[in-house]
Amino acid sequence: MTQVAVLGCGTMGQTHAHAYKNIEDVHVVAVCDIRKEKGIPVSELLEADYYSQAEALFSKASFDVLDICLPTYLHKEYALLAMKQGKHVFCEKPIALSLEDAKEMIDCARQYDVYFSVGHVVRFFPPYRQATSLMEAGKIGIPRLIRTSRNQAFPPWSWEHWYQNTEKSGGPEVDLMIHDFDWIIHYFGKVERVYAKNLGEHLPDQRHCLCILRLANGAMAHVEGSWALPKGSEFRTTYEIVGTEGQLCYDSTHDAPIKTEISNDLSHPVHHENPMYGGMNPYEAELRAFYDTVIHGNPLQVTGEQALEALEVALAAVESARTGESVTLGRATK
Ligand SMILES: NC(=O)c1ccc[n+]([C@@H]2O[C@H](COP(=O)([O-])OP(=O)(O)OC[C@H]3O[C@@H](n4cnc5c(N)ncnc54)[C@H](O)[C@@H]3O)[C@@H](O)[C@H]2O)c1
Repeated sequence: MTQVAVLGCGTMGQTHAHAYKNIEDVHVVAVCDIRKEKGIPVSELLEADYYSQAEALFSKASFDVLDICLPTYLHKEYALLAMKQGKHVFCEKPIALSLEDAKEMIDCARQYDVYFSVGHVVRFFPPYRQATSLMEAGKIGIPRLIRTSRNQAFPPWSWEHWYQNTEKSGGPEVDLMIHDFDWIIHYFGKVERVYAKNLGEHLPDQRHCLCILRLANGAMAHVEGSWALPKGSEFRTTYEIVGTEGQLCYDSTHDAPIKTEISNDLSHPVHHENPMYGGMNPYEAELRAFYDTVIHGNPLQVTGEQALEALEVALAAVESARTGESVTLGRATK
């Protein structure tokens, strides 16, 4: 049985914990969060030991895989620590905040011969998977134009408001739009050039970015990411893919007829559910895919190199918005 430790029991640590409940052959033996009120409920859910300090987790617990759900600026430190002890690492996206840090993580995984994957979960969301299958079946011909949006209110839940600090979260380009950058690169091809405009940081709780990507195969993508919607707005993602013979469109608010609106302090009080939808939770699917690699040696579905590529596009968007110039890619990842 593969033994796992989950580091960070905030929003994503809890999401992973619920997914682990359904995954056979994997046993979460330990969880760690500096906040007891976050760590203990997760330890109870998974019947795992609770640690309040990562140092104690590393010195006392025995595990094969570290699942990192910490704020982004802490990913590298703990990924390296785990890899150097021969542990496989699953790390939430974005891989890191700089290309140098990401490369160090990838190199370390290679040096210590451990598996390393990053939570680019959009690839596992059914509507995004379905688009890929339809395109592979030739339904819309050759994709030429991709338009995505990923819009929400500012994430208010974070520990010490780390999302608000661009040096810790990377802002919406690196934290949010990276989901679509990864999906676009993976399914439509390499990005050659990036041009972006954003709202800047004048309003700390309202960030918004519009980004145009030119792909190496000639296709064009228009990616919108927002943390600027009013507090309480529902999270919404969309795509339109225009091909030489047709188009595909998706809107996350249209795929589920049941709407619940809960009064609470979270930014997502509105939830849509589809009673017909029996698909697997995408977070469970991404973790299952990773453990298929760890346990059965299947190829990694999301590699560190791919996560680095998505980060390069996200950082180029930040740079383009800052300078007003387009950014040509291809140099940093070589
Ligand atoms: N894949 C997705 O859909 C998705 C969604 C949201 C966030 N994320 C990513 O997941 C990561 C975590 O984000 P979050 O929203 O869960 O953040 P969060 O603030 O909700 O949770 C982070 C947790 O880490 C704990 N923590 C901080 N420092 C620690 C330390 N040194 N040792 C132990 N615990 C520590 C905090 O107490 C907190 O509970 C980020 O990289 C974020 O970008 C991914």
